Amino acid sequence: MAKTILEVRDVKKTFGGITAVNGVSFDVREGEILGIIGPNGCGKSTLFNCILGQLQPTDGRVVLDGEDVTGLRPSEMNRRGVSRTFQLLQVFPQLSVRENLILAGQEHRGTMLSRLFGLRDVGLAPDADRMIAFFRLQHLADEKAGGLSYGQQKLLDAAMAFMAGPRMVLLDEPAGGVNLTMLGHLEERLRAINAEQGATFVVIEHNMDFVMRLCTRVVVLAEGRKIAEGTPTEVRANPAVIEAYLGH
Ligand SMILES: Nc1ncnc2c1ncn2[C@@H]1O[C@H](COP(=O)(O)OP(=O)(O)OP(=O)(O)O)[C@@H](O)[C@H]1O
Ligand SMILES: [Mg+2]
Repeated sequence: MAKTILEVRDVKKTFGGITAVNGVSFDVREGEILGIIGPNGCGKSTLFNCILGQLQPTDGRVVLDGEDVTGLRPSEMNRRGVSRTFQLLQVFPQLSVRENLILAGQEHRGTMLSRLFGLRDVGLAPDADRMIAFFRLQHLADEKAGGLSYGQQKLLDAAMAFMAGPRMVLLDEPAGGVNLTMLGHLEERLRAINAEQGATFVVIEHNMDFVMRLCTRVVVLAEGRKIAEGTPTEVRANPAVIEAYLGH
């Protein structure tokens, strides 16, 4: 079995009286595509925020390569090769596709130097162009991101998360609102990055067909707790999972 790179242990997050994540544990193994599913509001995005350092968990631990990284800032997690996309698009509509990618690369590096020199510098353009080619966005490279279709913007958003050349990317609903053609394209590119570069993914997604096709394993959350874990076929047949979805 592939080695575990990320351990999430009893992570809990409360907001005032609301317990959004209530003691969730799971492992992420090197090179896998792990799906996270569950009804709206069950704590999926909050869990990502706790792993990547956007939020401090109320309790529990996040361990990366055996090192406790609980509560480290997002830039520190980026430096360790862990990156993410957000549920809502993070692209800058006024910037071109290439400029968005360069900016994302600067954010991942987080160096003062690149911030001081702005968009023209620091040799990230070749990396951006490689990413543009990889995601087959060449014909859109100089277009303003705001002029792209929603699906194309989601693809750009995913490409931005890969600008750091990360080992592990957490994707929060990459397929949400994306049409079938773009969905096929996104799926194919994620598969390629996984196969060619050995990148590990954790994917939150409501599109069940997408999850069932892409993911090797699935963790199911309901009301802040993990209720099931297994292959897509196993979790789909699990009565607790069916109940969580039907009862919602
Ligand atoms: N910053 C916050 N302050 C207060 N409550 C929050 C905050 N963020 C999330 N919550 C609450 O925590 C719970 C879990 O929300 P979360 O966004 O993690 O769910 P989700 O599983 O990602 O849902 P969806 O599938 O709709 O994206 C919800 O009840 C939500 O209202
Ligand atoms: Mg969410």
